[in-house]
Amino acid sequence: MSARPEMAVSLEEVRRAFGKAQALRGVSLSVHAGEVYGLVGPDGAGKTTAIRLMAGLLLPDSGKVRLLGEDPTDTRSPVRESLGLVPQRNTLYGDLSVGENLRFFARLFGLSQRDFEERRAQLLDITRLGRFTERRADALSGGMYKKLALACALLHRPRVLLLDEPTNGVDPVSRRELWELLYALVHEGMTLLVSTPYMDEAARCHRVGLLHMGELIAEGDPRELARRHGVAASNFEAVFLSLVEKRDGGRAA
Ligand SMILES: Nc1ncnc2c1ncn2[C@@H]1O[C@H](COP(=O)(O)OP(=O)(O)O)[C@@H](O)[C@H]1O
Ligand SMILES: [Mg+2]
Repeated sequence: MSARPEMAVSLEEVRRAFGKAQALRGVSLSVHAGEVYGLVGPDGAGKTTAIRLMAGLLLPDSGKVRLLGEDPTDTRSPVRESLGLVPQRNTLYGDLSVGENLRFFARLFGLSQRDFEERRAQLLDITRLGRFTERRADALSGGMYKKLALACALLHRPRVLLLDEPTNGVDPVSRRELWELLYALVHEGMTLLVSTPYMDEAARCHRVGLLHMGELIAEGDPRELARRHGVAASNFEAVFLSLVEKRDGGRAA
């Protein structure tokens, strides 16, 4: 039933409030199949709310959310099986080992023993966690913990992966490693939406959506956005601040 199959995820005029807090104020954005889309914005911008809506964990107050052309809240739709989610907060079992966490999530996803073993070997290989299978999750470094969360979210071979601040609290070297891992996934045909509060990570994405106080203030190729603002893509903070100023200036006028 997907009208535009090249669209992996889309929000159309989506609004969502929590009591008086307006988390999203009519946001429209689209993630194309096969790209790395960065949802960039400071704390409180609405990133997690957007991701929870995309994952079908929340209903919008109004507007439309589509995941591979389907409604992600439709419990009868198989589209949910195409989705992988790495939430912002720690979601692994700290007192289970790396191997036990993988097994636990494989059971949740209903993987056969054979499929699990094959997948486990692949995922331990790409995340380089193979030497740490006996280590408890709560004894992993920040970067290793995120890689394990990523491995758990990839067990069932999703087509679309949503990652909520995967690099937050991760040291710079592990951050780069994590990004390399993400590119490898996209190279295999996966679609990625990554949220981040770090402006410098915008340049790592094919396209970005800049979220500020529940509004999408810009969307596009980060290099193109930077060029339009006359700054280097590596200085993306300047783009963001300039857009915020323009927006607030417009409001004041
Ligand atoms: N469950 C909730 N209850 C009340 N307020 C919420 C809830 N979730 C989000 N909010 C509010 O919505 C806004 C956006 O939050 P969030 O989506 O978590 O932003 P981000 O992930 O970008 O930090 C914030 O003002 C936050 O306080
Ligand atoms: Mg968040």
